[in-house]
Amino acid sequence: MTTTATEKSYQNISLVQDGDLAILTVNRPDKLNALNNETMAELECAFSGIAADSAVHGLIITGSGEKAFIAGADINELAVLSPIGGSKHAQHGQKIVRMLEEMPKLTVAAINGFCLGGGLELALACHCRVASPAAKLGLPETTLGIIPGYGGTQRLARIVGKGRALELICTGKMIDAAEALRIGLVNQIAPEGQSAVDCAKELIHPPKAKAVSPVAVAMAIQAVNRGLDMTLADGLNYETQLFGLLATTHDMKEGMTAFIEKRNAAFTGE
Ligand code: COA
Repeated sequence: MTTTATEKSYQNISLVQDGDLAILTVNRPDKLNALNNETMAELECAFSGIAADSAVHGLIITGSGEKAFIAGADINELAVLSPIGGSKHAQHGQKIVRMLEEMPKLTVAAINGFCLGGGLELALACHCRVASPAAKLGLPETTLGIIPGYGGTQRLARIVGKGRALELICTGKMIDAAEALRIGLVNQIAPEGQSAVDCAKELIHPPKAKAVSPVAVAMAIQAVNRGLDMTLADGLNYETQLFGLLATTHDMKEGMTAFIEKRNAAFTGE
C-alpha cells in the first residue's frame, strides 16, 4: 500500500487533503507560525510528498490562528548563527522554498495575517497569493541587521519590480493587503466573509471552470519558471519543445476529443 502525502504526521504543520487539493497549515500559532528548523524540515518532507502524489492537483499554504500566516524565520535560531552557519541556513532555506516554486501543480499562499520575512519569501515562491483584508506583508530583515535569505531579494524584484522591492526591503516596512494588491504582490483579496483558504480554493478551481490537464499544468509551470531565467528567444524555443511534448499525451487527445464531442474532458495526467 502506498502512503499519500497527507497521511504522514507532523508536529509543526498539518496537512489535509480536500478533494484534489492539499491544504498545508503551519501550526505554531503561539509563535505566529515562525519557521524554526523543525518546521522547515517538515515542510521539506511535505513538499516532496505532495509533488509526487498524483491525487493532489493543487496546494494551498496557510497559517494557523487568527493573527498570522507566517511571521518569518524563527529569530531565536537566527540570532545564534555563525557566518558559515548563516550561509548554510540560507542555502537550506532556499532549497526548500525552491521545491515549492517548482511544484508541478498550482500552489497558492492563503495569507491570513502577518506575512513577514521568511513567511513572505515562502509566499513569493508560491505560484499565486491571496490575502485576507487584514493581512500585513513585509520583509523586515534589514531591521534585524540581515537581508532576506530565502530568495526574497530575487523573487520580490521579479514580482513587483526593482523599485518597489528595494523600497520594501530597504525600509523593512509592512504594507496592508490593499497595497499588496495594488503593486501586484497578491493576486486577490478574499472578499469579506470568505477566508483566505476558501479564496485560494476558488482560485485553483474557479466556479464553473472546465477541468484542466494536470500534465499541461505541470508543463505550463515549468515553461514559465524556466522561461523567466532565459532570453525571450530561448524561452520561446523551450515553449515549442514542451508544446510538442504535450502532443504525445493522452490528456491532449482527450482534451481535443472532448471539445469536439461537446463533453467534459476526463483527464488522467498521462
Ligand atoms: N521568530 C520567533 N518568534 C517570533 C517571531 C519570529 N519571527 N515572530 C513572532 N514571534 C513570537 C514572539 O516572540 C512572541 O513570542 P512570546 O509570546 O514567547 O514572547 C509571539 O510570537 C507573539 O508575538 P508578539 O511579538 O508578542 O506579537 P505582536 O502582535 O506584538 O507583534 C509582530 C506581531 C509580527 C509585529 C511581531 O511579532 C514581529 O515583529 N515579529 C518578527 C517579524 C520579523 O522580523 N520577521 C522576520 C524574521 S527574519
